[in-house]
Amino acid sequence: MKVLVATEKPFAAVAVDGIRRVIEDAGYELELLEKYTDRADLLAAVADADALIIRSDKVDAEVLDAAANLKIVVRAGAGYDNVDLASATAHGVVVENTPGQNSNAVAELVFGMAVMAARNGYNGTSGIELKGKKLGLQAYGQVGRNVARIAKGFGMEVSAFDPYCPDGAMQAEDVNPVHDTDALYAGNNVVSIHIPATPETKGSIGYQLITKMPKGGILINTARKEVIDEVGLEKALEERTDLKYMADVKPDNADELKSKFGDRVFFTPKKMGAQTSEANINAGIAAANQVVAYLRDGINRFQVNK
Ligand code: 3PG
Repeated sequence: MKVLVATEKPFAAVAVDGIRRVIEDAGYELELLEKYTDRADLLAAVADADALIIRSDKVDAEVLDAAANLKIVVRAGAGYDNVDLASATAHGVVVENTPGQNSNAVAELVFGMAVMAARNGYNGTSGIELKGKKLGLQAYGQVGRNVARIAKGFGMEVSAFDPYCPDGAMQAEDVNPVHDTDALYAGNNVVSIHIPATPETKGSIGYQLITKMPKGGILINTARKEVIDEVGLEKALEERTDLKYMADVKPDNADELKSKFGDRVFFTPKKMGAQTSEANINAGIAAANQVVAYLRDGINRFQVNK
């Protein structure tokens, strides 16, 4: 059996070593395709793969058509919007993610960005402190929970909006439940976005919502660029010169926003939230174990296309 690890943005070497150990200990063969720039390389490599481990790499009908032996795709990470689930199901391929494995890494980056915004991009001017400020989480999943945990160390008051999470679960962790996005944006100095990109959420955060933020508001997006209405964001930043936008998911109009708004906006050059050795090890090895569990024992606990 061949397990292909195809990562346009590679895992740390130490994580690859761990993945290799799990795959080879199970008696399978590991093939590594890193930093590929040509999709043809992925199509060729997947041709005889029984299992595929990816990150944000796109797996669509073309890849699935090219992979006659493929039985399972594991997205080493949380969001699986890069995988065509319907096509995978039609091809009889199980799709899994590795929930929670990289969430602390993303949560720590939220604070890297929050402090950077609060200190005006370290440009020498006087900034603000996070202590005593209100933080609103748009979704209270694994990343949101980690952000809330760290926020308490900063002395922030945390609220969250998540229609899928019962109020009691938030209250048990000292987080105030909020019941609509308007209230979340209006009531918090810092809002951190943790929703997945789905047909319902795409383009859902725009002018109307962003301009609800109080004076000096900081909006942080470590989720997906697609959830932002970029035209609305630009208009909001133009009108509200007090607002800041920090994103680990570079918008399509990044250059324009950077030239117009300078230190009020910040974008990582590549998605960096999960790019730590620890997160790579956690998510990569979890993915390898899940591949083995499925190929060997038919275990599909983390399947997302059931
Ligand atoms: C995720 O959904 O897990 C994160 O966005 C990480 O994506 P990455 O593996 O491409 O860094």
